[in-house]
Amino acid sequence: MKRIQLFEFEDFSWFPSGLRNGMTNLIAVLHRMMGISEVLADCIGEVLQEQQVSRIVDLGSGSGGPMPEVLKIIHEKKELENVELLLTDLYPNPHAIKKFDRSEGDKISYSESPVDAKDLKNAPDGLLTMINSFHHMRPKEAREILASATERGQSILIYEMVENKMPLFLWWLLLPLSLTILIIMVFFMTPFVKPLTWRQIFFTYLLPVIPICYAWDGQASMPRIYALKDIDLLLEGLPTDKYVWEQGYPLKKNGKKLGTYLKGTPLKQNFSGS
Ligand SMILES: C[S@@+](CC[C@H](N)C(=O)[O-])C[C@H]1O[C@@H](n2cnc3c(N)ncnc32)[C@H](O)[C@@H]1O
Repeated sequence: MKRIQLFEFEDFSWFPSGLRNGMTNLIAVLHRMMGISEVLADCIGEVLQEQQVSRIVDLGSGSGGPMPEVLKIIHEKKELENVELLLTDLYPNPHAIKKFDRSEGDKISYSESPVDAKDLKNAPDGLLTMINSFHHMRPKEAREILASATERGQSILIYEMVENKMPLFLWWLLLPLSLTILIIMVFFMTPFVKPLTWRQIFFTYLLPVIPICYAWDGQASMPRIYALKDIDLLLEGLPTDKYVWEQGYPLKKNGKKLGTYLKGTPLKQNFSGS
């Protein structure tokens, strides 16, 4: 496999939730900057229409990432006006829970109880999405997620905003430079964080723990992402008679690739009797 297992601060249960939330808030800013919501809304909208599903269950949501914006765009599409979004995470984000409590009538809620993506047996019904969170799963767990979705006949859409294609030696070589660039970027991105708290400001500009951890996790994510060929390995041996897998590159309006996706959907039953 091209993917390697590195640590990310975000994954440690002892990592302070305030810092973790500060980091996922920054990822949400990055999504807005890159225009990921539009691309995702097209991919997700297609599956919802094809499979006639009216709920999205997002796993590893962090502070929500691009999904609230994605839902807004989806609501503008024909027959998808009533789609609901349930955000979940192994470490639920208290600010996001408060923000997305359905009171706005926006059809978004955030599960207060932790939901482990590795344990899909009891996952709520709906289209499962994993946005920039699949790389957190080790190969055995990643395969179990795919196998579980197949067994349950539940649609799943996995998206990573970067493709893992850089040779590893080059990644190590460029690491000091990439970390420095990311740390500096955080200083400029932070004013766009919503909601911007004193804690986020303190741990960015006065004691820059968030920029350092964000930069490391951002860089460590890249070689942890499953390359398209790695995904082929994960899918090997899964039954294909009732379930189809498709992977590729979502395209922006200007035709440029933006990240990679893996889509799994149950085959539609033919009830024609023929
Ligand atoms: C890189 S963040 C992505 C957050 C959000 N989806 C986005 O795109 O901004 C990865 C998220 O996965 C969560 N996570 C890690 N392991 C998980 C697991 N086993 N089950 C559910 N969530 C997990 C982390 O807590 C973190 O919020």
